[in-house]
Amino acid sequence: MNDFLDLVSSRFSCRCYLPDPVPKEDVVRILEAARLAPSACNKQPWRFAVITEESLRTRLLEEGLLPGINMDWAKVAPVTLVLGMKRSLVTHKVAPMLSDVDYPLIDLGIAGEHAVLQATELGYGTCWIGWIKPKKVRKIIGWPREIQPQALIALGKPASAPEKRTPRLSLDEIAEWK
Ligand SMILES: Cc1cc2nc3c(=O)[nH]c(=O)nc-3n(C[C@H](O)[C@H](O)[C@H](O)COP(=O)(O)O)c2cc1C
Repeated sequence: MNDFLDLVSSRFSCRCYLPDPVPKEDVVRILEAARLAPSACNKQPWRFAVITEESLRTRLLEEGLLPGINMDWAKVAPVTLVLGMKRSLVTHKVAPMLSDVDYPLIDLGIAGEHAVLQATELGYGTCWIGWIKPKKVRKIIGWPREIQPQALIALGKPASAPEKRTPRLSLDEIAEWK
């Protein structure tokens, strides 16, 4: 894969994993890609927890997800990343009162997708999981109140790829040139 768009196109939300562990150096590389992300006022509001210990991961995925969507596949993935946000007073609380833009959420999304694309480049499958109970997740992994979990990312070798990719709107539908 030598083209960035090929890498982006090869990523998919993986919902079928092999249980093989992910070497720590690969997880470090994936987090390094997140660490280098840009952020509003360079506040770097992201925090990460790498959950690999079997009983903690199972508890997180049994008690930390909202009901209604079957996400048992996430328990097979050997790594669950927790993405948390630490809001600063000026950039994240005062500035949005004027602009109504949620800067740290944008920052976290960028960092998370950096991680996802690095994982893709290393041959891993990933899936963002936003259907979570943030407070419960925070308590299970022992984060302090000021760090709010916003999403999980399942990570591991894919057991299979979906037969069809999820559709996207066309460029004409989402972009305009003026
Ligand atoms: C912020 C965010 C939250 C998501 N939450 C979930 C989730 O809770 N469960 C799930 O199965 N997929 C989740 N997804 C995956 C989306 O459903 C998926 O990205 C979308 O359908 C497009 O498919 P693709 O990723 O395979 O291209 C989430 C994706 C994002 C970006």
